[in-house]
Amino acid sequence: MSRIFSGVQPTGNLHLGNYLGAIRNFVRLQDDYECIYCAVDMHAITVWQDPEELRSNTREVAAAYLASGVKPEQSIIFAQSSVHAHAELAWIFNCVARIGWLNRMTQFKEKAGKNRENASLGLYAYPSLMAADILAYKATHVPVGEDQKQHLELTRDIAQKFNNDFGKEVFPIVEPLIFGEATRVMSLRDGSKKMSKSDPSDYSRITLTDGRDEVAKKLKKARTDADPLPEKVEDLESRPEAANLVGIYAALADISKADVLKDYSGAQFSVFKPALTELAVEKFGPIGDEMKRLMDDPAYVDSVLKQGAERATALAEPVMKEVKETVGFLSF
Ligand code: TYM
Repeated sequence: MSRIFSGVQPTGNLHLGNYLGAIRNFVRLQDDYECIYCAVDMHAITVWQDPEELRSNTREVAAAYLASGVKPEQSIIFAQSSVHAHAELAWIFNCVARIGWLNRMTQFKEKAGKNRENASLGLYAYPSLMAADILAYKATHVPVGEDQKQHLELTRDIAQKFNNDFGKEVFPIVEPLIFGEATRVMSLRDGSKKMSKSDPSDYSRITLTDGRDEVAKKLKKARTDADPLPEKVEDLESRPEAANLVGIYAALADISKADVLKDYSGAQFSVFKPALTELAVEKFGPIGDEMKRLMDDPAYVDSVLKQGAERATALAEPVMKEVKETVGFLSF
């Protein structure tokens, strides 16, 4: 049986990359699979979060799922911290994963920066919690952006080692689902850096709640080169900023990059940027509006999260029973 799990950190500034790389795919998968979508608040606290903001950002992730079209009567939407299995299984996986494996994680290196000694232990163990998120439900497929690939490889290693150590096929070996024309959306200010929630410059990203004026302003300022758009996709290879904008256009319009270039080859950015602005506003406007409406109704969002937590708990319970028995914990 196939089951989907994925999550987004409630750290504010949900952006185009989160939507095109992940959330939109969550929506597309829900009719064909049983889907579980989480606001990973326990992952968020691996770096400092203001408690009130964390609560609000957790609701915002749920609102983004709902506004984008995840159907709560069908798919499960919940907050990670409301289901005990995540923390419990993460501890067991901390004892399965090897320090050498975690030392290779590029995201830790990036996030910890130069002062690694001062990073939280949680930030270091982050991928082990991520493996627990997925495997507490024996999920088989995980839709994510490209930046999460390495973490999913670690999830596979942990599942394999657990199964080998205990001589039992307890966990599936998960498959990443990385698809669409925008699996790695880059910063609007620097085509060599990925678009991220934590970039200090607001101009580096378009957020889901940006209005028309903000989108227009940010795209107008977006860095590009001076040449018109080329005829062939290969000719974008040495032009990261142009490639990024064409990729965003393709993903939003649901066409290939080659098709974008059919329409816009030879066009200057002074023509292409306004067209991209129109398209972004057309696609995001309704989502942003619905998110704002939902954020004004926290009682409704909480009711979705509560019901989701109950359904998620029920799915994780038999898995945790099997895991604890396998590991050798007493059960009463
Ligand atoms: P997070 O919160 O950083 O990002 C959420 C999702 O958005 C994708 N994404 C992008 N896709 C394309 N271009 C970008 N610039 C871009 N930036 C972010 C991410 O790949 C991700 O799919 N560790 C995860 C959250 C997580 C998780 C999980 C995911 C925790 N447990 C279990 C899957 C399964 C993270 O930090 O995502």
